[in-house]
Amino acid sequence: MRVSTLLLTGATAVNAAPNASDFFSTWMASSFIGKKHPIDNHYVSNVINEGIRQAATVHNNATLLSWASNAISSLVTADGTIQNWDPTFYSLDDQRVGNNILYFWNLGGRKEKKYEIAAASLRAQLDRFPRNAEGGFWHRSPTYPNQMWLDGIYMADQFYATYTSYFQPDNTTAWNDIVLQFDLIEKHTRNKTSGLLAHGYDGSNPHKAVWADPVTGASPNVWDRAVGWYFIALLETLQVYPTALPGYARLKTYFTTLAAGLLKAQDKASGGWWLVMNEPYPGKPGNYIESSGTAMFTYGFLKGIRLGLLGKEYKAPAAKAYKLLTEKFISYEKNGTLSWEGTVSVGSLNSNASYEYYIGVPLGQNDGKGAGAFMMAAAEYERL
Ligand SMILES: *[C@@H]1O[C@H](CO)[C@@H](O)[C@H](O)[C@H]1NC(C)=O
Ligand SMILES: *[C@@H]1O[C@H](CO)[C@@H](O)[C@H](O)[C@H]1NC(C)=O
Ligand SMILES: *[C@@H]1O[C@H](CO)[C@@H](O)[C@H](O)[C@H]1NC(C)=O
Ligand SMILES: *[C@@H]1O[C@H](CO)[C@@H](O)[C@H](O)[C@H]1NC(C)=O
Ligand SMILES: *[C@@H]1O[C@H](CO)[C@@H](O)[C@H](O)[C@H]1NC(C)=O
Ligand SMILES: *[C@@H]1O[C@H](CO)[C@@H](O)[C@H](O)[C@H]1NC(C)=O
Repeated sequence: MRVSTLLLTGATAVNAAPNASDFFSTWMASSFIGKKHPIDNHYVSNVINEGIRQAATVHNNATLLSWASNAISSLVTADGTIQNWDPTFYSLDDQRVGNNILYFWNLGGRKEKKYEIAAASLRAQLDRFPRNAEGGFWHRSPTYPNQMWLDGIYMADQFYATYTSYFQPDNTTAWNDIVLQFDLIEKHTRNKTSGLLAHGYDGSNPHKAVWADPVTGASPNVWDRAVGWYFIALLETLQVYPTALPGYARLKTYFTTLAAGLLKAQDKASGGWWLVMNEPYPGKPGNYIESSGTAMFTYGFLKGIRLGLLGKEYKAPAAKAYKLLTEKFISYEKNGTLSWEGTVSVGSLNSNASYEYYIGVPLGQNDGKGAGAFMMAAAEYERL
């Protein structure tokens, strides 16, 4: 749907949109290219890259697509080395670029050797990655021993699954290992009553993290962006995971039950989601509707509906959330570009993980974690 149509159908006032014939996805994408964010192997750069690529794909925009493709190509040297990636530094965040590399390898007819080598190096690192006693990848070594965070599932396991689907589709050991990562995070962090998951858990015995629950090891609070990463990880992994293996049904249940929890947790007045999502914090002083989590859940709902994983009861809530994204979190620059607002800069378990900690972290303008997710949500919305 074009912005002009949105303006007509939206009941309430939308900020005056200067280039009203643009789509929000491509408009945000070209705005971000104009902001000259770094092109590197950092996960944030690659979330922006994926947002730009999804916008380009939905609208058949060759200019934007080649921008995204060239950016990834520039990261990988001719011999398959990923620039500035240290294969002896174990941080799941650094696996995320693998998704972008595999995307363009596949798009280019699966023949670019340098991408194959680069992806194989990332994949080989997973075979050496430190793990906790139950087999879960450490979020980062040596900083977060035995800890699994929802964020890390997104950073590494979608890549692990996509790689396996392309290069080792019959490797049942790998498929079981992939679903194990989800199983462990579910076992330790899911609240079966709310349907939501805590930010992470400490798998050390005895627990070392100050925030660890004495029984489960879980951190005490539900942070919206971590849940957003996890929701997307489930959605994308389901598309490549073999349906015949028993892990598929578990992943699907994790996705649909999380979606149900998100539906319950959605703020009925605004259509968005709170930064700290667990009771009793929604609506409490200091808490707020945060834009990156809201964009990720909107994307997950819209794509989940499109793929037939979610039913039509998600349509109206997704549309309400999308409307909030476009009305509250976009600002219009004088030069005709867009900026992105309302994304919390960080949330880390390198803290006491308290409510006071999460609400004390500042918001940033043009944060790519939120804007990249918004481009994906907008691209999904515009497909309709
Ligand atoms: C691609 O998107 C950019 C940014 O919105 C736009 O300026 C350009 O006209 C688009 N190109 C095509 C072919 O649609
Ligand atoms: C447009 O203006 C914004 C805000 O000043 C700036 O960040 C951005 O780089 C500008 N874009 C272009 C393409 O000049
Ligand atoms: C299959 O996956 C496992 C677990 O990731 C790995 O250790 C093994 O090397 C893989 N097998 C092949 C043939 O690649
Ligand atoms: C699980 O969620 C319910 C419903 O929001 C809440 O009452 C309960 O305290 C939560 N349990 C934990 C361990 O956080
Ligand atoms: C539309 O955007 C372009 C840059 O893409 C800008 O030059 C132009 O001034 C904008 N139009 C309006 C009416 O602001
Ligand atoms: C946790 O850390 C926050 C700052 O990040 C601080 O305001 C709060 O008092 C701390 N809580 C405890 C129990 O130490």
